[in-house]
Amino acid sequence: MSKNMKDATPKAARNGSGTGAAAPAGAVSRRRLLGTAGAAGATGLVLGAAGGAAGYAATRPDDPAALTTVGSTRAMFHGKHQAGITAPLQAHGHLIAFDLAPGAGRKEAAALMRRWSATAERLMAGRPAVDGDGADHDTGIALDAGPSSLTVTFGFGRTFFERTGLTGRRPTALDPLPPFSSDHLDAKRSNGDLWVQIGADDALVAFHALRALQKDAATTARVRWQMSGFNRTPGATDRPRTARNLMGQIDGTGNPKPSDSGFDQRIFVPSGAGTGTASADSGPAFDWMAGGSYAVVRRIRMLLDDWEKLTVDRQERVIGRRKADGAPLSGGTETTGMDLDKAGPDGRLVIPDNAHARISSPEKNGGAAMLRRPFSYHDGIAADGTPDAGLLFVCWQADPFRGFVPVQRKLDRGDALSPFIRHEASGVFAVPGGAAKGEYVGQRLLES
Ligand code: HEM
Repeated sequence: MSKNMKDATPKAARNGSGTGAAAPAGAVSRRRLLGTAGAAGATGLVLGAAGGAAGYAATRPDDPAALTTVGSTRAMFHGKHQAGITAPLQAHGHLIAFDLAPGAGRKEAAALMRRWSATAERLMAGRPAVDGDGADHDTGIALDAGPSSLTVTFGFGRTFFERTGLTGRRPTALDPLPPFSSDHLDAKRSNGDLWVQIGADDALVAFHALRALQKDAATTARVRWQMSGFNRTPGATDRPRTARNLMGQIDGTGNPKPSDSGFDQRIFVPSGAGTGTASADSGPAFDWMAGGSYAVVRRIRMLLDDWEKLTVDRQERVIGRRKADGAPLSGGTETTGMDLDKAGPDGRLVIPDNAHARISSPEKNGGAAMLRRPFSYHDGIAADGTPDAGLLFVCWQADPFRGFVPVQRKLDRGDALSPFIRHEASGVFAVPGGAAKGEYVGQRLLES
C-alpha cells in the first residue's frame, strides 16, 4: 500500500479527552489533491443498513467520501490529556500489557514511546503505519476504513520504574493495591511494565492498531497479557445512551460527568501534585504526571449461570436500580438521584443496604469517585464449563487510593453483587498527560 492510500478525511473531529487539534497536514493536502473536501463533508449522512453496505462496497482506500459517520469520526491524539479517558465508549477494545525485554532500559523505553506515539497519531488520523525510517510497513488490515474513533492510550506500571532506573520518580499512587478477600488474581495476567488501551468503533481498525503497536514493540518489549472486549455498536440504538453490560444492567449512570464541578480534580492529576492532592508525590519529580490519570484495570468474571437464575426483581435489588431503564428503585428515571433513605410499605429500604449502587456511591464513600470506562469480554467457555465472560473494568482517577481502593474495600465487605462476580486479574497504571505537538507520551518522564 502506498503511503497516501489510506489518508482519510475525517468528517467529525471527535472530542475525546484532549483539546482539538487540526487534521494532519498530509490529510489536508491529500484532500486538496483529490478535491474531495466538499464530498467528505457530505459523508456524515447516516446510512441505513442498505446504504451502509453499499457504501462499504463502494469504498476505495483513497476515497474518503465513501466513509460513513462511524468510519470518519476521529479522536485527537494531541491534547492536555491522552485520548481514551473521557472519550465515548467504543465498540471494540484491546488492553495489552508489555514487559520490557531483558537488557532494555530507559533509552530503549524512550525510543519505544516515541515510536508508539508516532504510530498512534497516524492511526488515530486514519493513516497507515510506517516504520522508524518513514517507510510503509502497514499490514493493510484497516484498508478502506477511516479512523473509526480510534484511541490509543499509554500507561506505565510500577515495575517500569525499576526497569528504567526511575524509582525516584515513581508516584506512591502506583503502590500495590491492598488484597481484597474476593480476589482470585492471576499474576500472569496482572500488572506489567507498560500498558496500552486501544478502542475503536470498527473491529478491524482496533486489530490493526494492536498489530502495529505490537510490531513497534519489536525486541524492546514483549506482550505480558492481552484482553479484548466490546461494547454496543454506535448507531444500534439511541436509547439508552448509557452502556449495558453482560448482566443486562445499564452501567455507567453514576459516572462523574466532565461538566460536573470538581471533575478534573477527581480524574486528572494537576500540575505539581503527582496524586492530585498534597502528598508524597508532590513536587517537580512528579510533574510528568500533570494532566495524567491513573487507570485501575480489573478483569472481572461474571458468574452468569448463577446470575441468570435470579428473578429480575432480585437482580434489581442486587444493584438498587431497575434493569430495563436504570432508574433507581427509589423512583424516577435513569438520571434521578437515588433516595437512599426511602423505605417501602414494609418499612424496609427500597434500595437495600447491600445494593451495589448504594455501597459504591460517592455519598457513602466520603465523595470517592472514579470514571468507569469498561469493555465487556467473552472468551468462550472456561474449564469449569461456564461462560468466561464479564467486564474488563477500567476506572480512571487522580489517585487510586482515593478512588478505587476505598470503594472496592467497601464492596468487598458486603456487596450483594459479590457472589456473582470474581476479580481474576488486576493492574494499576500511571497514564501521563497528553503529548504536545512534536512530543511523545511520557517524554517528560523519560527525558528530563
Ligand atoms: C462486574 C462487576 C461490576 C458490575 C456488573 C457493576 C455494575 C454496576 C451497575 C449496574 C451500576 C449502577 C449504574 C451506574 O451507576 O453505573 C454500578 C454503579 C457503580 N459501580 Fe459498579 N459494577 C461492577 C464492579 C464495580 C467495581 C469493581 C467498582 C469499584 C471498586 C464499581 C464501582 C461503581 C460505582 C462507583 C458506581 C456508581 C455509584 C453511584 O454513583 O451511584 N463497580 N455498577
